[in-house]
Amino acid sequence: MVNYTVRPATPRDCADILRLIKELAKFEEMENHVKLTEKGYNIVGYAMYYYTYDAWIGKLLYLEDFYVMEEFRGYGIGSEILKRISQTAVQDHCSSMHFIVADWNHRSINFYKKLGAADLSKKEGWRLFEIKKKHLVKIATEE
Ligand SMILES: CC(C)(COP(=O)(O)OP(=O)(O)OC[C@H]1O[C@@H](n2cnc3c(N)ncnc32)[C@H](O)[C@@H]1OP(=O)(O)O)[C@@H](O)C(=O)NCCC(=O)NCCS
Repeated sequence: MVNYTVRPATPRDCADILRLIKELAKFEEMENHVKLTEKGYNIVGYAMYYYTYDAWIGKLLYLEDFYVMEEFRGYGIGSEILKRISQTAVQDHCSSMHFIVADWNHRSINFYKKLGAADLSKKEGWRLFEIKKKHLVKIATEE
């Protein structure tokens, strides 16, 4: 058993959250992509979300990051965080929650599926695209 509290983040949590952002990036083998900087240690898990909008289905909660330190996994902390986020989504009239998961992250995929998540890439054929800033600048400034 571990004792823990799930609560909304405050500006004072920035250092710990940044440490966890880096740990999650390492877990996803993308550590050198993290550009932010900070120092500290206090918090063992976090989720980061924001609202977005889909013209077909309306307001959505987008789960950007979700991470619990390895030694604290399996105690229900992740499930409690996801419960809080689900409560927030329902209270704020979101029609669903969207997120992306790495193809190889089978434990998380199974975890989400058990909660009722649908794999839209498989089901509807969506692919994730990115236009990097240098291309944005080019597009934006092209005559
Ligand atoms: C996904 C994650 C946030 C869940 O947090 P948690 O605190 O371990 O969650 P819980 O204790 O509530 O367990 C929920 C589920 O997580 C999975 N889980 C539990 N322990 C785990 C571990 N050591 N490693 C990976 N997944 C684990 C299990 O599927 C579990 O479901 P079950 O109890 O029905 O088998 C956490 O495992 C994690 O940070 N994983 C690495 C990062 C990651 O994959 N993030 C999601 C990216 S989309």
